[in-house]
Amino acid sequence: MTNAIEASRLDVGYGGRQVAVKVLSGLDLTVKTGSFLSILGPSGCGKSTLLRVVADLLDPLGGTISVLGDTPHAVRSRRDVGFVFQDSTLLPWRTVRDNVRLPLGVGQGSLTRKIEDRSEELLDLMGLGGFGGRLPHQLSGGQRQRVAIARALLGQPKLLLMDEPFGALDEITRDRLNDELLNLWRRTGTTILFVTHSIAEAAYLGERVIVLAANPGRLVKDLDMRPLKQDGNRCTREDPAIVAAMAELRTALERAS
Ligand SMILES: Nc1ncnc2c1ncn2[C@@H]1O[C@H](COP(=O)(O)OP(=O)(O)O)[C@@H](O)[C@H]1O
Ligand SMILES: [Mg+2]
Repeated sequence: MTNAIEASRLDVGYGGRQVAVKVLSGLDLTVKTGSFLSILGPSGCGKSTLLRVVADLLDPLGGTISVLGDTPHAVRSRRDVGFVFQDSTLLPWRTVRDNVRLPLGVGQGSLTRKIEDRSEELLDLMGLGGFGGRLPHQLSGGQRQRVAIARALLGQPKLLLMDEPFGALDEITRDRLNDELLNLWRRTGTTILFVTHSIAEAAYLGERVIVLAANPGRLVKDLDMRPLKQDGNRCTREDPAIVAAMAELRTALERAS
């Protein structure tokens, strides 16, 4: 399978077919399997809406979309999609460990040894090795987002949807988590759709960056970052080619706003 997402003439709105105001209109988007796509766009242009359609949380009004070669619904049923949102909703009364295991049925006596081991591995991987027994309020914001990422990865999703996951974090923490995310992506080959407000973050992470404009949401810029980076999507934040790409993205974003 070469494409993780194939969307064609996609129309998306809220309020049903009758009263719908289109949020996305006629969107064509193909995303290669295993790639890292960054999505930029002004607030309200439909970035989260697009992820909702991919995740089968919202049906399109028109057009077609296939995810991992199947319907969004089938992919969701197979738990092939993981999500991380800006404000990760951890259950405050559950430990970090139990929050990570939650999607696979904690408390139902159904946890296999394999899942238990894997959740511990993921906590280690996210730098939370000693934190499994803590409660969410005993963690920093960055640590809570790491828990959310570990939770999203537990089911070994083929597709990871990230909606401004690091938006609430300080810059140093964000940079560090960006590098951890890239390492993880290199190791797992998971396709990642990453929505962000940060041009720098989009350019640093993405093999490709798209910019959406609002009213209705549509694609206004599609930048291939691979020629600007080393193998494995590697670059430095200060690389002149990356800085130039950021300026190009900024122009597109200003026009789109
Ligand atoms: N549940 C909803 N019901 C009605 N309108 C919504 C809903 N969610 C989002 N919208 C509207 O859809 C548009 C796109 O929203 P969203 O996808 O959240 O934008 P973004 O993530 O790019 O900031 C906005 O105008 C927003 O007000
Ligand atoms: Mg949003």
